[in-house]
Amino acid sequence: MNNIHPIFDKILLRKDKEKLLKQKAIVLWMVGLSGSGKSTLAKAVEQALHEEGCITQLLDGDNLRTGINNNLGFSEADRIENIRRSAETAKLFLNCGIITICSFISPTEQIRNLAKQIIGEEDFYEVYIECPIEECEKRDVKGLYKKARAGEIQNFTGIDAPFEPPINPAIHVNTANEEMQKCKQKILMATYKKVKSLANNSKS
Ligand code: ADX
Repeated sequence: MNNIHPIFDKILLRKDKEKLLKQKAIVLWMVGLSGSGKSTLAKAVEQALHEEGCITQLLDGDNLRTGINNNLGFSEADRIENIRRSAETAKLFLNCGIITICSFISPTEQIRNLAKQIIGEEDFYEVYIECPIEECEKRDVKGLYKKARAGEIQNFTGIDAPFEPPINPAIHVNTANEEMQKCKQKILMATYKKVKSLANNSKS
């Protein structure tokens, strides 16, 4: 990179901000098909953490695609760029000491590795929100599966675009077999263990 002079070493450190916020920052990266329950769980987890006194930020694929990613579609290249920008955005929040919850289909191993590489392996927690495509299609909350089947939307994940299930996620829930409340608790319990200072936080 010519003529670029980063000042990473001259700005306040993440640990200074974590100390101020009395929390440890991590990124929870929710992966799953459209309609699997990612956004619902991301919202519920954020709400619960907020009530515990944590500072959080939720980044959702649909939301970011109305702003920073509004020039991107669903080709493989655009999805890679979507995840690259989203992961870079998550990293900004992470470095500010904020618990960042990301909700993106992130359909391939390559895409998820990119996110992990940008965010850093030690701060990246992959959360697989599993739900069979048949169930997602039955729910069809946004009516998108119907459109995809009718040929009105191309490259729809799980229909005519790939979805590779995560191989070794840090947290794994199945919204077809387990109640949402139970899935939420499972994610929260695992998160509490990682966000070490949380117990002290809620006492103060
Ligand atoms: S990702 O594949 O690039 O990670 P992202 O999570 O940002 O996807 O966006 C997915 C959301 O976009 C879906 O929840 C759905 O509402 C909408 N969407 C529109 N077209 C498509 C498509 N072709 N495939 C998947 N999702 C789509």
